[in-house]
Amino acid sequence: MSFIPLETHAILDALEPTNPHLAKALECHIFQTLDSTNEFLKSAPLKPHVISCCLAETQTKGRGRFGRHWHSSFGENIYCTLGLQAAGDLSRLSGLSLIISLATQKVLQPYTNIPIQVKWPNDLLVNEQKLAGILIEINTNPNAITDVIIGIGININQSFKDSAHPWCSLFDITGKQFDRNQIIAAMIATIHDDIKVFKTSGLSAFSEQWDACDYLKNKTIHVQKPNLTLTGKSIGINQMGCILVEDDKGVIHTLSAGETSLKRN
Ligand code: BTN
Repeated sequence: MSFIPLETHAILDALEPTNPHLAKALECHIFQTLDSTNEFLKSAPLKPHVISCCLAETQTKGRGRFGRHWHSSFGENIYCTLGLQAAGDLSRLSGLSLIISLATQKVLQPYTNIPIQVKWPNDLLVNEQKLAGILIEINTNPNAITDVIIGIGININQSFKDSAHPWCSLFDITGKQFDRNQIIAAMIATIHDDIKVFKTSGLSAFSEQWDACDYLKNKTIHVQKPNLTLTGKSIGINQMGCILVEDDKGVIHTLSAGETSLKRN
């Protein structure tokens, strides 16, 4: 497949037949190069009832969780940030971040028979190699409206086969190249639908999907928090999206994504 650039009309054409209202509510900003798509939407005023979508062919300062750099080669992958306004209740945002991981998993899984797993809270893995990552940031305004900034990086057409990093792409897994516009349209529609379900039913509506693709389930993990290092078995998540870790005394610890980093061995 020859190079297909990111294009607003291609995304809208893919969305319109099945989601005409969503296509109307979407505002796309596409750049050849940008420091970070998250940074762009964090400084752009978001509008009520509008979904802002910022995409770049490359990022010079792509950011991952814990301040890590996000590799952003030109024209091959998806660097996408969605911005939307949410009324109040920040406590639900940890759950929201899992919903975005699950929506990404649901969109990408049909492209391959190899299972795509979600490593709590936000990594998508195939055969232990990272396919996608998600960085959610929030801006709270004085009027109690929260700007939710959803940054999604998905490795699509770049090959990581000879790289020293434990990363992979859809191309590495399938041997095929993909039109990123189609995948972005599917992501926007799925995230939009799943946030609606999440608002009415919470995380419980997604517990079956989580269970089916939970990479850490029943594995021994190490958890690092500022004042605690803990080793235990990951036994799932609760309704707030916190991970549950059972230590060797049978005590169950509830840990939230914001303050936790995990290692598995
Ligand atoms: C992670 O796994 O650490 C999260 C990676 C998030 C990367 C995406 S790429 C689009 C958006 N812009 C950024 O600067 N970061 C996110």
